[in-house]
Amino acid sequence: EQEINAFTPANAADLEQYRIRFLGAKGIVKALAGEMKNVPAEERKEAGIMLNAFRQLAEAHYERYAHMGNAGKESDRKGDISLPGYPMPAGTRHPLRMVENEIVSIFEKLGFSVATGPEIEDDWHNFTSLNMPEHHTARDMQDTFYVQQNPDLVLRTHTSSVQARILETQPLPVRVICPGRVYRNETISARAHCFFHQCEGLYVDKNVSFADLKQTLYHFVTEMFGPDTKVRFRPSYFPFTEPSAEMDISCTVCGGNGCNLCKHSGWVEILGCGMVHPELLRNFDIDPEVYSGFAFGMGVERITQIKFQVNDLRLYSQNDVRFLRQFSSV
Ligand code: PHE
Repeated sequence: EQEINAFTPANAADLEQYRIRFLGAKGIVKALAGEMKNVPAEERKEAGIMLNAFRQLAEAHYERYAHMGNAGKESDRKGDISLPGYPMPAGTRHPLRMVENEIVSIFEKLGFSVATGPEIEDDWHNFTSLNMPEHHTARDMQDTFYVQQNPDLVLRTHTSSVQARILETQPLPVRVICPGRVYRNETISARAHCFFHQCEGLYVDKNVSFADLKQTLYHFVTEMFGPDTKVRFRPSYFPFTEPSAEMDISCTVCGGNGCNLCKHSGWVEILGCGMVHPELLRNFDIDPEVYSGFAFGMGVERITQIKFQVNDLRLYSQNDVRFLRQFSSV
């Protein structure tokens, strides 16, 4: 059966070889039928069923390419249009795309709109305008790919570059969610990749407070991971936010009982966030005395890992259908 399934004729001669080997007068099907008389009576019925199935497979496979044998004879090539078509299994959505869609739709319901930006970005939008001037040590946090030795062009290291583009062009207030691919010069392993995906959120208006940030993110995780999910904020540092925090959620995989994902701590980190730095607002001619905002950025691979327990980043980009098909029913 394996041989049959693997067989693809290159031309009519190939197909004829196949027919002789499996279906010919001295072919395998005939030979097996001849063996039937040697099968003990009590097993004969079952053997007959198997042989029949095998013959049908061999014939169906032949029929599939039979038009090749008639190449040149236009009238014979038309085929029987009343025959059912060959099954064409539908593809499945990539798990990262499914999770990205879910993240975006949770924020859309809160009034955020979707914004995207270029993956090849200039220094200003990726770094300088975000309060990461040249020689700022924070640039070392993100191992950067430069484009063709041009120090002004980078593969964006985070989707915060879209924040910069939005503040530059959109009238206030703004409330956007920015999904996209980002790049960092890291050695590929189960835990790091040279590209991954982020979702950035940005909200700038009058009177936006840290309480708004907390409540918005709390709403997000309960929608994403269920109503019992708890959150915890830890002080952190990002050049573009002040104050800055990292947010953990209670581990939804082990329910706090200890697993590899939360390293037995009961908590998993899912995003960085904070209040938009006043200096950054000034870079875009926004008066920080009048306006304030919050921003957050999360890794889509991370959220997917928690949701589906995918623990090797490489699986996402290997295009192994055995991996991808596992998400067909999600
Ligand atoms: N851009 C940060 C990163 O890639 C995440 C972040 C976004 C943090 C917005 C704070 C606010 O690590």
